[in-house]
Amino acid sequence: MPLVTTKEMFKKAYAGGYAIGAFNVNNMEIVQGITEAAKEENAPLILQVSSGARKYANHTYLMKLVEAAIIETNLPICLHLDHGDSFELCKSCIDGGFTSVMIDGSHLPLNDNIALAKKVVEYAHPRNVVVEAELGRLAGVEDEIKVAAEHALYTDPNEVEEFVTKTGVDSLAIAIGTSHGAYKFKGEAKLRFDILEEVGRRLPGFPIVLHGASSVLPEYVEMINKFGGKMPGAKGVPEDMLRKAAGMAVCKINIDSDLRLAMTALIRKSFAEDPANFDPRKYLAPARDAIKKVVRHKLVNVLGCNQKA
Ligand code: G3H
Ligand code: 13P
Ligand code: ZN
Repeated sequence: MPLVTTKEMFKKAYAGGYAIGAFNVNNMEIVQGITEAAKEENAPLILQVSSGARKYANHTYLMKLVEAAIIETNLPICLHLDHGDSFELCKSCIDGGFTSVMIDGSHLPLNDNIALAKKVVEYAHPRNVVVEAELGRLAGVEDEIKVAAEHALYTDPNEVEEFVTKTGVDSLAIAIGTSHGAYKFKGEAKLRFDILEEVGRRLPGFPIVLHGASSVLPEYVEMINKFGGKMPGAKGVPEDMLRKAAGMAVCKINIDSDLRLAMTALIRKSFAEDPANFDPRKYLAPARDAIKKVVRHKLVNVLGCNQKA
């Protein structure tokens, strides 16, 4: 099976009231953990690569790892550029075989964001690649760029129809209070479901994307803290809120931090329990297993996309 776009996945997810998981990949163990989980749960999958991941692992290595995962799983897998920050980066990923790209102009004035997204769509669509854009701005850290909470902006539902019509994008990421990283809420977790509902009303049937959707699972934060790490106050999006969003217009839910935490926790545990070990396989195998366990949990209990491949 070749790589697929998100077109069919999103159509079915919207109609079925569930969401597709978009998991970030950086190396072989992460690709294997995610895709083995999806295979066991027979789930469609989006694997996404940030520009930082592409710099770290190299485009060709990531392509080949994902191609290997398709051979091993025979699942519908979409390969997506996460937070593309320029036309040139999107073009390079499109030319290099990705089936989906995100152009993130969310920091730009509305008209500039529209012009940039339109330019990417005009290049992507004739090449059968789909495009995600973002309206509104999330707080948090991406690729070393930190957006402070006071600079985060909720999406304005009044802008979404104009944005989608003028750009021709295939999906839209919106800001309703989630943020990137492991410290999402200082006090009580709160998402603006009223904005999501209004966006859904303005764009009937149109797939919405939620970034910054890790739940920062306490099991792994506790393990990190127990084995020499220091992550006091880490907090994520409660899973019942994500399930609610998946039942609304949200068709794609982005998860990276939960995988990083699981991987880090198990590596710390391995080092603490066997300080003499210097065989990377002995600490990477449990880390890969933990990623698999987290992804299975997300597919079944949060996204509801198990048995939908
Ligand atoms: O939203 C950002 C993702 O978690 C990717 O993070 O840019 O550090 O690879 P990264
Ligand atoms: P988290 O940091 O919540 O995992 O968000 C990931 C993300 O949005 C990737 O684009
Ligand atoms: Zn993101």
